[in-house]
Parts: sequence; C-alpha cells; structure tokens
Amino acid sequence: MMKLAAVCCLLVLTALTTASTTASTSQGTVAPGSSYDGSLLIGAFNIQVFGISKVGKVHVLQTLVKILKRYDLVLIQEIRDSSGTAIRTLLDTLNSEVQDKYEMALSSRLGRTSSKEQYAYFYKPSRLTLLWNYVYDDDSEDKFEREPFVAYFESPTTAMERFAMIGVHIKPSEAVAELDHLVHVYDDYVNKSAGNTNAIIAGDFNADCRYVSKTALKNSLLRSDMRFRWIIPDDADTTVAASDCSYDRIVLAGDDLFDSYQQNRTGAFYFDREYHLDINMAAEVSDHYPVEMFIKGNLDLEYSPDAIQPMLTAYSDSISRSGSFRAVVWMCLLVMGPLMFP
Ligand SMILES: *[C@@H]1O[C@H](CO)[C@@H](O)[C@H](O)[C@H]1NC(C)=O
Ligand SMILES: *[C@@H]1O[C@H](CO)[C@@H](O)[C@H](O)[C@H]1NC(C)=O
Repeated sequence: MMKLAAVCCLLVLTALTTASTTASTSQGTVAPGSSYDGSLLIGAFNIQVFGISKVGKVHVLQTLVKILKRYDLVLIQEIRDSSGTAIRTLLDTLNSEVQDKYEMALSSRLGRTSSKEQYAYFYKPSRLTLLWNYVYDDDSEDKFEREPFVAYFESPTTAMERFAMIGVHIKPSEAVAELDHLVHVYDDYVNKSAGNTNAIIAGDFNADCRYVSKTALKNSLLRSDMRFRWIIPDDADTTVAASDCSYDRIVLAGDDLFDSYQQNRTGAFYFDREYHLDINMAAEVSDHYPVEMFIKGNLDLEYSPDAIQPMLTAYSDSISRSGSFRAVVWMCLLVMGPLMFP
C-alpha cells in the first residue's frame, strides 16, 4: 500500500513539475499551473454605464475580459442595463476564454430613481465558495442610493477561511454620509456572520476631489474607526481621465486580512498603460481603473484535504483538460487520502 502511494505521489509530482514549466501564464498575475500557492487577486471595478452598448463594441468587450480574468474575485459596479443581458454576455465571453470558469452573484437593481444600477461579483469556484449574499437592508433609514451588496465567501487556500466582500458605489453628493454608514453595514455583517470580523469593503467611494474634502474624509467614521484599514492611499489616481482622484478604494477589517494581504501588490490597475491603449480607447472601457489587492495563500503552510482539492483543480484545469491527468490525481488522492489524513 505504501509503495503504491509513493509511486502515485511520484507520478503526480512529475506531472506537476513538467506542467509547471509548460503551462501558459497568460491568465493573469496569479498564473495557475506555475506556482499556485492559494493566493488570491481581488478587484473592484466601476465599469462606467455598463450595458448593451459596451458589450456591443468588440474591442471594449475584449479589454474588459482581459482585465477581469486577472482576478479570482472581482466586484463589478454600475451595471445599468435593464435587460440583464449585457452582464451575461460579459460573463459568457470571459468564461469562453478561461479554463478555470467564473460564476456570478448578481444584486437586484438599486437606486431611488428610475436610474438604477446592479452590482455583480465574478468569482472562481475553484478558489472560493460563495456561502451567502444579500443586499444591505436600509428600507427603514434609506441611507444609501445604492445599498451595499455583501457576499460571504469561504477561502480554503488562505489564512482568512471566511470573509465578506462588501461592495458599494457611493453617491457623490452624499459621499460623507454614506461612508459613515458603511460602519453600520459592517457591524450588521459581523452580527450576521456570528462574529466574523474579516471584511473587504470596496468600490467607487467617490471619496476625493470635489465630493469629499480631506478634512471630511479624515473625520468620517469609516476612516477614524481604528478597526478599518484603508489600503488605497488618498493620493492614488483611480480615474482614467486627466483628473487625479482617488475615488475607488479598498478598506479592510479583521486581523486575518491584515495579516494576509500584501501591500506591495495593492493599488489601481492601469490597464491603459498595461495594454497600450490611448486615452480615447481607455475611456471607452471606463472612466475608472480597477483597484485590486493580493492575498497570500497558505497552501505551503497547511495541507488540509480541503486546501489540496482546489489547488489540484486549479492545476489540472490550467494544465490539461485530458482525463488522464485528472485520473492520476484522483487516484492518488484516493490512495493517499487515508494515509495522509487518517
Ligand atoms: C449587533 O448585535 C448586537 C448584539 O445583539 C446589537 O447590540 C447591535 O445593535 C447589532 N448591530 C447591528 C448593526 O445590527
Ligand atoms: C513584497 O512584500 C513581501 C512581504 O510582504 C516581500 O516578501 C516581497 O519581496 C515584496 N516584493 C516586492 C517586489 O517588493
């Protein structure tokens, strides 16, 4: 039995080593198949007035797909299309270009007037399990133009285990009040999750330039409450146009997140520079850059059966669709499982 297990292990290791040298790295910064360690790249992107007209332009759709496939989890904001088909087209086009498919969690249409927006999370089920999601209920107080959209994930490959992403597109003219109220949204989530303090609050906060002064920002509850850490600096430029405003933000809460995010891989993603787009072509995509953060994986540190499965799925997905590789992996897991985790 031990011998069989050892042979199996050798086979898998050989397969992984061979694959890691041949696997394509075109899938983004976290190249699955080369050195997947369980890390996550998480983004938030306001795709200005996203709808049918945007997905109808091939070069815009292609650029959006290129941007989105960087991420393991990404919040999309400003979905305006009332037919609901544009976001589907975006997801389907994205999935037609990647092996490690995305799933979507979509909010209801939000807004006080007839101008409504939806939020969506695109995430990879191979890396994250969506446990539940909800739109923050503020019917009684009506603090938000577009109520935050909360999604609660299980993350078997990082030290966080479980965390929420709280996405929000703040109304510019009420930015300070909405910012303050995000603290309640957070407290409400902590209650709902039976005390989990880990959360990523992200989105277009409109918290800069003519909407929020430096003083107002400093005094806002989300900024002054020491439970929160703002990881996109006030001098960041998250706007595509000549203006230099730090509208799009990521704010973290919870010790597990503080410990596992990597500051030097956090910031705006300048897709125009990265993909050599001129200002007009970039502006057709959005007036915002995505903001993103990198969370370290812990697969190297802690091998639990739960952690190994998504890693192997990612490997086998990115390396080969052939059944034989999967078969070897599965056989190995079956044989090794009882030995390694009695
Ligand atoms: C969370 O629960 C505590 C204790 O039940 C309660 O006092 C508090 O008001 C709740 N917070 C929110 C925002 O619902
Ligand atoms: C980024 O920070 C990590 C520690 O958090 C360090 O190990 C790594 O070398 C840094 N990378 C760069 C490019 O500075």
